[in-house]
Amino acid sequence: MAVTIMDHPLIHHKLGIMRRKATSTKEFRDLVSEVAMLICYEATRKLPLTDIEIETPLVKTIAKEIEGKKLCIVPILRAGLHMADGILNLIPNAKVGHVGLYRNEETLEPVEYFCKLPSDAAEREIFVVDPMLATGGSAVAAIDILKKRGITKFHFLCLIAAPEGVDRLTKAHPDIDIYIGNLDERLNENGYILPGLGDAGDRIYGTK
Ligand code: PRP
Ligand code: URA
Repeated sequence: MAVTIMDHPLIHHKLGIMRRKATSTKEFRDLVSEVAMLICYEATRKLPLTDIEIETPLVKTIAKEIEGKKLCIVPILRAGLHMADGILNLIPNAKVGHVGLYRNEETLEPVEYFCKLPSDAAEREIFVVDPMLATGGSAVAAIDILKKRGITKFHFLCLIAAPEGVDRLTKAHPDIDIYIGNLDERLNENGYILPGLGDAGDRIYGTK
């Protein structure tokens, strides 16, 4: 298990725009997908390659391709959906499962309302995506749900995390790799990440 925190100028720049309260819904939504793509580039660095013989216009040669192509993206609804869209630009053949969770506003604990996965999900390497890792409750619950369905190989990708969420997720699921766009300072008394970017789902869908 490893926790990788991105440190790339493009990610810093794009997150800076997302954090601004004046950023429009459309711009925010586009940036979720762009930053997800950049994080995915790093998260797929260790995918196994296999040699394949091809013909260029000049000669036969050995090229490389990703072994097996057994990948599956699992966005946590709602906010994870636009991360999945971005990642599908890079991995168009990946399958997509969905886990629906929302945080109870009083207890901050996640409530499950949906789960639909490809039938061969247990054979696949899974990329669970959610822009925000706050208390960590939603990420832990999503991975609990997926493990109960036989999935064993996980990566978790988020745009912004609080130290409290990273701590909870690594303790509950020490076997997964975590990729974080930026590690922020802390949670406030309502479980929001500071400085954060507000409620990711509301900003993506304009529901506030
Ligand atoms: C947000 C976010 C995460 C969760 C993070 O979703 O997208 O899923 O909160 O918080 P946690 O780490 O404390 O669990 P929310 O519950 O607001 O649902 P939504 O995506 O439907 O807006
Ligand atoms: N969920 C969000 O969307 N934002 C936060 O800061 C915390 C949880």
